[in-house]
Amino acid sequence: MKNSLIEKIKNATNFTDYERDSLIKRLEASAKSGLIFEAKEEEIEKDLAKKNTLLKEINAKKVGATGIEHRLIEGDNLHGLSCLINQKESVDIIYIDPPYNTGNKDFKYNDHYVDSTDEFRHSKWISFMSKRLKIAHQLLKDDGAIFISIDDAEHARLKLLCDEIFGNTNFVANLVRKNKSGSGHDSKKIAVEYDYVLCYAKKIDQLKFSKEDAGAEQDPKYKLKDKHLNHRGKYYLRDLDYKGSYSRSLDYAIIAPDGTEMWPGNTFGKPNTWRWGQEKFDWGIDNDFIVFKQKNGKWKVYIKQYQFVDNKNNKRQRLIPHRALIDFSNAIGSNELKSILNQDIFTYPKPTALVEFILDLFAHNRSLHILDFFAGSGTSLHATLLKNRADGGSRRCTLITNNENKICEEVTYQRSKKVIEGYKNKNGKLIEGLSENVLRYYKASFGK
Ligand SMILES: C[S@@+](CC[C@H](N)C(=O)[O-])C[C@H]1O[C@@H](n2cnc3c(N)ncnc32)[C@H](O)[C@@H]1O
Repeated sequence: MKNSLIEKIKNATNFTDYERDSLIKRLEASAKSGLIFEAKEEEIEKDLAKKNTLLKEINAKKVGATGIEHRLIEGDNLHGLSCLINQKESVDIIYIDPPYNTGNKDFKYNDHYVDSTDEFRHSKWISFMSKRLKIAHQLLKDDGAIFISIDDAEHARLKLLCDEIFGNTNFVANLVRKNKSGSGHDSKKIAVEYDYVLCYAKKIDQLKFSKEDAGAEQDPKYKLKDKHLNHRGKYYLRDLDYKGSYSRSLDYAIIAPDGTEMWPGNTFGKPNTWRWGQEKFDWGIDNDFIVFKQKNGKWKVYIKQYQFVDNKNNKRQRLIPHRALIDFSNAIGSNELKSILNQDIFTYPKPTALVEFILDLFAHNRSLHILDFFAGSGTSLHATLLKNRADGGSRRCTLITNNENKICEEVTYQRSKKVIEGYKNKNGKLIEGLSENVLRYYKASFGK
């Protein structure tokens, strides 16, 4: 793209020399930063139009006889994804962990490693991701979402690319994952202990995430007890006096126990109000939800916020949205894999708990189809199997990975097989297989 576009500009006659030179300089700078990249749109369309993309099953590698069916597809993910599109498939969740493009030989483009000396490494990476994410977008169901692990090397560019492909209104969150602590930092200036998981919905209005239990039982802020302990649990006090958006109907006098008048903010008028209107306040007095206290000779009034009932005295489970700050250490992922394969054969597998966290966001649906097209050691399938075993779900998982350094055959497949069939871990302990599952192995390729 860069060269052909620059050639055209060089030959164009409707620029002054100054305009031409400055345009070329800006184009070159943008291409190096990855802000413009080789987007050969026709290439994807051409690939997809090839009706003979093939998924060929390798029967000898099938694991298990009957049960929930999962797939491992060996091949370039562009081919694998095209096969899924051609088979008119769709998925609910996509989790991917692509090469981070750190410049340390983690990313191959056109069969060559892209290192830190390559001036166009960002534009190559974005071009590579763009093709694959466009297909991923097509595969996602309307109420589905994609989660992409990434670090500082490409986070900013990936965010812009996803805004373009998924639409910036479908941006859900940038999860920040604490992935290590203590030693082993790769930065000389600041200890970087985080990477990210970018999340986009296919259609934000249709995306539904489950909430998590606020853990009110353990929450230390509920300290106080009264005669309602058995039904309502412990409570803490919330000031009824509130400084927020002003409403006249919430600005009224309350009579303190000694008969004196109390006003929000000590006086009538903006900015303070009570949190509750007069009727709700009277209900609170009648139902023992209100407490008066005297501090330095001045009356204060509080709401009792209970553990197990809401402000209408109805039983509730306190549910809150999951947080964007997450903590799933890389070391746990490495130990999990080492314990299964008995060797340190693959660097930086993600921990299964990270993928289980993503599945928990969809806890309301236990029969989802999950796709991971940078499958690496197969963490996503392992996490799916564990989650199904824990909650009786029937989620299906499709993994796609290339066979670089025999990873698909020797790591992804071996791990998945062991997890389904059972294995002896590195301490010699027998780990029961998750045998209610079947794994089918395919090779993806373009036919002639
Ligand atoms: C960072 S690793 C993923 C690790 C994985 N999340 C885990 O927990 O094990 C990225 C993987 O994507 C694979 N990969 C890279 N480019 C690919 C491509 N074009 N098609 C298929 N797989 C690819 C690599 O072989 C590598 O194993």
